[in-house]
Amino acid sequence: GKGEFEHYMLKEIHEQPVAVANALEGRLGSDQVLIEAFGPQARQLLGRTRQIHLVACGTSYHAGMVARYWIEALAGVPCQVEIASEYRYRDVVAPPGTLLLTLSQSGETADTLAALRHARKRQEENYVGTLAICNVPGSSLVRESDLSLMTHAGPEIGVASTKAFTTQLTSLMLVALALRQLHGGDRDLTARLVHRLRYLPTLLGDTLQLDGEIAALAKGFADYRHTLFLGRGAQMPIALEGALKLKEISYIHAEAYPAGELKHGPLALIDGSMPVVALAPMDELIDKLKSNLQEVRARGGQLLVFADPESGLEQEEGMTVVKVPGCCRFLAPIVYTLPLQLLAYHVAVVRGTDVDQPRNLAKSVTVE
Ligand code: M6R
Repeated sequence: GKGEFEHYMLKEIHEQPVAVANALEGRLGSDQVLIEAFGPQARQLLGRTRQIHLVACGTSYHAGMVARYWIEALAGVPCQVEIASEYRYRDVVAPPGTLLLTLSQSGETADTLAALRHARKRQEENYVGTLAICNVPGSSLVRESDLSLMTHAGPEIGVASTKAFTTQLTSLMLVALALRQLHGGDRDLTARLVHRLRYLPTLLGDTLQLDGEIAALAKGFADYRHTLFLGRGAQMPIALEGALKLKEISYIHAEAYPAGELKHGPLALIDGSMPVVALAPMDELIDKLKSNLQEVRARGGQLLVFADPESGLEQEEGMTVVKVPGCCRFLAPIVYTLPLQLLAYHVAVVRGTDVDQPRNLAKSVTVE
C-alpha cells in the first residue's frame, strides 16, 4: 500500500535512495564495475560493441538520452538514441558491431518490443546482440533479449515513472563504466565514479529533503498555463523529463529546450506570465547557462532555478533559486531529477488532479 504517503507517486519518489542502492547492489567492486554481475555473456557482448542504438519510449527514452552523453564521454563508444515508434518503421542502418540497447520499465511496451524484433529481422548480422535494461523480470523484452540488466526498482504503481527512471539511469551509468573498462579508458576516473556511485543513495536522500521547500513553491506555480524547462548537456534530457512529468500529472503545458536553443525561437514566448525552470549544476556549461538565464530575466520571465550551491546563483527579483546538494557532474542528472519530480507532484496536488492515475494514460502501453 501507500503507507504514510498520500499517493503512490510520492511514496515512489521517496523510495529512490533504496531503489538506487538496490540497482547498485552486487555490481560494484572496490574501484570498478563488476561486469560479470551483468551475466556470463556481458564481457563478450560489450567488448565487441562498436556503437550503440538506444531505443525506448517516454521517460525511458529520456534515460537513453542521458546515457548517450555518458557512453560517449566515458567510453568513447558512438551512441544514438531513438524513440521506439520511429525506429521500428525506419530503414535503420546498423553498422557491424551495433549493440541494440532497449530501455523499458515494464518490458511490455509494444513499440519497444517491435523495435527489437524489427532490428532482428532487418540486419541481424550487423548487431552484436541485444541488451534490455528493464524493471520486470520475465517480461517479454527480457525474454527476447540476449542479455538483460534488471533495474531492481521494485513495483512502480504510479503512472508517472519516477524510481524506474533513476534506477535506469543508475544501470546505464554502470553500462557506461563497463564499456569504459572494456574499451581501455583511464582507470582513475572509473574508480572515482565508482566511489561516487556508492554515495549516490545518500546524496539522493539529502536531495529529497527539498520536499517541503518545493511544496511551498508549487502553490505559486499551479496557476500558470505554460512552462518552459531549460538544461544543457546531460541536463537537457532531465529538462525534458521534468516537462513530461508536469504535463502528465498537472496538465500544465510544458516544453523543454536545450538552453542554447532559446535564441532560435522559444525566447519569443517569454514574458511575465511564462515561468522558466532551469537546471544549473556545476559543470563546464554553467557560465553559458547563466547567460541564457540573463536573457530570460531581461524579458521579464519568471525563473525557478535548481542550482548547485557553488554556482553563484542567488535569489533575485524574478529569480527563485533552490539549492540542490553539490554533486559531481556525471551524477548530476540523477540528482536533479528529484526536485523536478517533486515539483510536478506538488503542483498536481495543488491543482487536485488524479496524481497516480492521470487522465487518458495507462501504466503500460501494450498496444500501438
Ligand atoms: O514501461 P516503459 O518504460 O517501456 O514505458 C515507457 C513509457 O510509456 C513511460 O515511460 C511513460 O512515458 C511514463 N508514463 C512516463 O511517466
